[in-house]
Amino acid sequence: MLQRHRSDAFIEFIRDLLYHSFVLNSMKETVTESWGYVEDLVRELHEAQLRNDGSDKLCRLKKLIPSVENFHTRLPLQEAFEEYNDKYCVTSRRFVRPSFNDIRHILNLAQINAIGSTVRLITLDGDCTLYADGKTFEDEKLARYLCFLLKHGVHVALVTAAGYGLNAEKYEGRIGKLLTAFEEYGLSPDDKRRFFVMGGESNYLFQCEVDCRLKPIPEEEWNAGDAKPKLTETQVSEFLDKCHSVLKQAQQDLKLRVRFILKPRAIGMVPGGPEGKQLHPTGSGGKSIRRELLDECVLRVKDALEQCGNKVDYCAFNGGSDVWVDVGDKKIGVACLQQHLGIKACETLHVGDQFSSIGNDLKARSVSATVWIINPKETRYCLKMILKRRGKSTKTFGPDEEVPE
Ligand code: IMP
Ligand code: MG
Repeated sequence: MLQRHRSDAFIEFIRDLLYHSFVLNSMKETVTESWGYVEDLVRELHEAQLRNDGSDKLCRLKKLIPSVENFHTRLPLQEAFEEYNDKYCVTSRRFVRPSFNDIRHILNLAQINAIGSTVRLITLDGDCTLYADGKTFEDEKLARYLCFLLKHGVHVALVTAAGYGLNAEKYEGRIGKLLTAFEEYGLSPDDKRRFFVMGGESNYLFQCEVDCRLKPIPEEEWNAGDAKPKLTETQVSEFLDKCHSVLKQAQQDLKLRVRFILKPRAIGMVPGGPEGKQLHPTGSGGKSIRRELLDECVLRVKDALEQCGNKVDYCAFNGGSDVWVDVGDKKIGVACLQQHLGIKACETLHVGDQFSSIGNDLKARSVSATVWIINPKETRYCLKMILKRRGKSTKTFGPDEEVPE
């Protein structure tokens, strides 16, 4: 499999396309046009997808990259490239060719330029997006920007894989500083009620109340339509048993000193625990599990589920230090929110850090526009750009508050 599970076919395609200009030393003359060409390919596919008549399969981009996802908006790539190049001087570089990160940033910028002024729902992943991995929300500026968006009528939701059942306090514990900020910045009851938390990918939905506490919404209320397939308890337990047995086999084969966490809608494999140490005294994973081993476990689960004809929607992913398999995924999570709020895919933006095939944000791409960030600082930057695109420049906040740059 090499590293294919960690790459992104669309970004690789663009990188290869730009490589020729770089090698031929003609970046200044040709690269803007290349971005225009990609923009054209995306436009063709987006329009075909809007027609919804099956013609998307015939589009050039689909033929070049069969795995390419839906586009929910147009992507003004040429303009985004010019904006990025103006700042970072890509075309003046002689030794370093356009990188994965350059392209990721340009795609993000194009997406924000396309949707920033009209977005009605922003969904954000938790770990690595709103807060550091495994930590709690700390960034005051980020809190400020989120408050600013809520105040201006945008719905905001944390859509996280972390599943603590209907235990609101656990979620509140992770985003305490954000909830406190709602009070500090004088959000109205309606502003507060525009904030949601979807936990366990698509399993538990909470809404912020006037007292800045999270209140669970009964599932029959938010799962009234067809966004989330109904499962029986037997289907869920058979699914989780299968995943558990695959992971146990992997633990055996890879000599992993790990333990399992069994939840009603998920199974996790995390470092440490006495049992793993006893089973594999010479193995690894007692303190942390190597990335390659985490990836291997995820790919094994996906392969086994494919082989047995699994019908349950799920998400198996490498969480950076652990492996999780959740019943449900962020596609369903975001779609349920859209359904509940009456918001369309082209009005939704998901911000996340895990868009490779073994990450848990990828699935959101099929129901919303996305930006791919790598840390909360980048999330903050994206939100700032969105605020600017809405003409709510980050200058004033309330009557006399200033939002810092
Ligand atoms: P996210 O990045 O906000 O989606 O959170 C993913 C992280 O949440 C994982 O890496 C896990 O460490 C943690 N986590 C805690 N409970 C669960 C669960 O039930 N399912 C998946 N991830 C979980
Ligand atoms: Mg994450």
